[in-house]
Amino acid sequence: MSALEVTGRIWQTSAMSTEDAASPTIVILAAGQGTRMQSRLPKVMHPLAGRPMIRHVVATAEALAPGRILVVVGPEMDSVRATVAPHTAVEQRERLGTGHAVRTALEAAEVTAGPVLILFGDVPLVPAAVLERLLAAGAQGLAVLGFDAADPGSYGRLVLDTTGALSAIVEAKDADAATLALRLCNAGMMAADASLLRRWLQDLTANNAQGEYYLTDVVALAREDGHAVAVIRCPEADVVGINTRAQLAAAEGILQARLRAAAMAGGATLIDPASVWFSWDTKLGRDVLVQPSVLFGPGVEIGDGVEIRAFSHLEGCIVAEGAIIGPFARLRPGTRIGSAAHVGNFVELKATDLGDGAKANHLSYLGDASIGARANIGAGTITCNYDGFRKSRTVIGADAFIGSNTALVAPVSIGDGALVAAGATITRNVPADAVAVARADQEVRQGAAARFRERRKKKE
Ligand code: UD1
Ligand code: MG
Repeated sequence: MSALEVTGRIWQTSAMSTEDAASPTIVILAAGQGTRMQSRLPKVMHPLAGRPMIRHVVATAEALAPGRILVVVGPEMDSVRATVAPHTAVEQRERLGTGHAVRTALEAAEVTAGPVLILFGDVPLVPAAVLERLLAAGAQGLAVLGFDAADPGSYGRLVLDTTGALSAIVEAKDADAATLALRLCNAGMMAADASLLRRWLQDLTANNAQGEYYLTDVVALAREDGHAVAVIRCPEADVVGINTRAQLAAAEGILQARLRAAAMAGGATLIDPASVWFSWDTKLGRDVLVQPSVLFGPGVEIGDGVEIRAFSHLEGCIVAEGAIIGPFARLRPGTRIGSAAHVGNFVELKATDLGDGAKANHLSYLGDASIGARANIGAGTITCNYDGFRKSRTVIGADAFIGSNTALVAPVSIGDGALVAAGATITRNVPADAVAVARADQEVRQGAAARFRERRKKKE
């Protein structure tokens, strides 16, 4: 490969910080197109638990106190570059294989010494503790991560010699029947000394079924060079690779199982854990009770003792201690629910502050609103926050009472302790402690219904 052009375009947004020779350079490979996803989105941008796959890998890399993180991206992968910022992105112009990708990164960023850890953007669930073991084993030579696959499929196979040491990795497409029968597989990740790795990478050839420069071939080259190659083993669930939508769903399942376990270990009760879906950053206090079929989108923080009843959907919101949410509630971004407040069935809040002890129990839309403590929002209250051009705010004071089926046409404010009679369309501010009635007067015509029926009967 030495004759090849490997100079990758480099976007360096982070300062170089390789002074500490012991801190590893982490290279994350993400230039593959992911054609098997059948998607316009680069594979590593597909979300898992509410954030792009590549962000999971970057977060794990960050947890390892690296000197720097280099992410290898393909051409036209601006979204990936933006997502991994402020880390350095290196463009691999032609996707000539995993070995070529690593070489491109190390040369573009001029990494010549110290430990290197190679991660894959499409293997997002590997725990930092596993990678620490890999780094410790490979920092001075070479170590690879392996696992026993239930179904080895298209994974590379780890071929051991008679002493049990690793002699080579053979890609499935290049393997004979005996090699394909091996269950010990390559997870893809490796740790190595930078200067040795650069030497081996230069000696790679593309004489294989896919015509690619395989990273996996450095194992045989290291052996020829007189280096033993360590194998660190881990459970299969830690290293699931994502090449298809079915594998994406399987990885989501593994991640959700971890998030549910962590929620319960932290003191939350999940009545039916399998039906509760978390985001990577969901924060639950102690003694939170989550009923079945609840979904947490990104950016949710739940205080102690909160009860979230069945079929609720929450994202980008903060719920203070002791509140009761649902069943069938929807909390949208920018919502803050005060302590001991109640949000009941078919109530939607967006960018709204619901004060401590306030209640909105039935069938309401509350958007761009600020609602005082202990206010009572009657069934069917709607904040009309949008006039077709812009959004306006509604302010409701503490202890106010909004009667059922009220339309609050924003911008409008209801003072502390004010009372709005049911069925109102409120277009002007209501002062504190006032009563606002805004509906047509009721007319009662004695006996009119009976007379009406008589007339109809005569006509028939
Ligand atoms: C790779 C390994 C295989 C291992 C499997 C684990 C090689 C040759 N094979 O196969 O042994 O069992 O992962 O999941 O390493 N990429 C680039 N540039 C390229 C090619 C790939 O950045 O030119 C990136 C991809 O975006 C991906 C990663 O490298 O994130 C792995 O590439 P992929 O094509 O998925 O390799 P596998 O066939 O899965
Ligand atoms: Mg893969």
